[in-house]
Amino acid sequence: MKHEWSSRLTFILAAVGSAVGLGNIWKFPYITGEYGGGVFIFAYLICICLIGLPIMLSEIALGRRGKQSPVNTMLQLSQEAGAPTAWSLLGWSGMAAGCLILSYYSVIAGEVMAYSFRASSGIFNHQTVDGVKGILTSLESEPEKLLAWHTLFMALTILSVARGVKGGIEKTVSFLMPALFVLLLLLVGFAMNSGGFEQAIDFMFTPDIDKFFYARNEMGEYLMDAENEKIFTWVPMMVAMGHAFFTLSLGMGAIMMYGSYLNRHVSIGQMTLIIVVLDTVVALLAGLAIFPLVFANGLNPAAGPGLIFETLPLAFGSMAGGTFIGTLFFVLLFFAALSSAISLIEPTVAWLIESKGIRRIKATVMTGVAVWFIGLATIFSMKGVTFGDIIIDVVGDVELEAGIFKYNLFQVIDFFTASIMLPLGGFFIAIFAGWIMHRDSTEREFSFQNRYVYPAWYIMVRYVSPFLVFMVFLNIIGIFNF
Ligand code: PFF
Repeated sequence: MKHEWSSRLTFILAAVGSAVGLGNIWKFPYITGEYGGGVFIFAYLICICLIGLPIMLSEIALGRRGKQSPVNTMLQLSQEAGAPTAWSLLGWSGMAAGCLILSYYSVIAGEVMAYSFRASSGIFNHQTVDGVKGILTSLESEPEKLLAWHTLFMALTILSVARGVKGGIEKTVSFLMPALFVLLLLLVGFAMNSGGFEQAIDFMFTPDIDKFFYARNEMGEYLMDAENEKIFTWVPMMVAMGHAFFTLSLGMGAIMMYGSYLNRHVSIGQMTLIIVVLDTVVALLAGLAIFPLVFANGLNPAAGPGLIFETLPLAFGSMAGGTFIGTLFFVLLFFAALSSAISLIEPTVAWLIESKGIRRIKATVMTGVAVWFIGLATIFSMKGVTFGDIIIDVVGDVELEAGIFKYNLFQVIDFFTASIMLPLGGFFIAIFAGWIMHRDSTEREFSFQNRYVYPAWYIMVRYVSPFLVFMVFLNIIGIFNF
């Protein structure tokens, strides 16, 4: 028997639980830092409105109509529309993307767990910049430590999903999401008094077009071509669009899955707006909590993935009650990650239960163990991981128009899933909802709302969103010199 969410509020909390995660608090600030701040945020917000909102509406509508896991929902809806059943491939690629994302998500979430303990031990108190860097390096350069935390996080994810979505997530998120919000506000309050607030506002909201459109090296200097001109790059635009998908959990069926548990009499327009606004607010608050501390401590906002593990501990170490607030922050970040992780494997677990008749517990363990294995790739490619004398750091380099970039496996998986698989999945979801499904099927999902919502969504999902995703994709061809 299919269950439904106990109330609209629990659906919102679960969907916000999926959307708000490491993407908002760990990833958004560091990619904003890497790609120049203000313009990046501007591009990201445009992607959220013109692409994220309509596609989230589509996923919820499709899921609620199909009432099954994404693979089977797409099978059923394509048959209903008289279209090829190959559309169910969308569900398959979603499951693959979910497992790949979770594989590295779990490693980072493991680090977050490690940091909860480190913060509570008071180790950050009065640390220097080099001190906190050393604490991070000591974690990332020892694979067995990372492995232990990754294993623990996967075990907890398995435990929650095996207990069923309703019993597991509903209860957890109802407490955790509001708590996370309050804590972020507290941190923003502290950041406002840290001395770096104005600089942070300037950095986050003053658009500097050059920083976004022209390639720079790790030192932040512009790269020049043979004629001594700056080199144009589409990478930040792709990352902004990819992040809009990632942060809203779109393009891989997670939200479709949650939509399938939604009651038929709920207005999906209202729900979607609330989820999108809350997710965006959390990301901006995270930026407002973190960047002032970066500037106040003279750190580099483009510090990369280590931003949250280096700058925040510094701030916690220098504030009154920092041990307590720091511990709480990492614990809550861990729970935000857990509620997202659950939604990353739920489509695969639900499909195994539906189509293979496997019991939930077994299905969850099978999926979790597979993801755990893929996670090893991230662990072994973390910067500075060493085996005896061998340092596994960079696995290769790629030559783009903008220069030669070093990359490791973690970055490859991240870029491939977030910047390619999710937008591609979202593109086809929009095409399916806007062009393949019969109008009256989609219209029925949009009852219970203002009469302008449906026509507006219809135009967006038919023309605007797929066109924008396509345009950004066209440029991948240019980037990789195909
Ligand atoms: N939205 C999550 C975050 O921002 O951390 C990540 C995520 C969860 C992506 C679920 C995709 C997904 F299906």
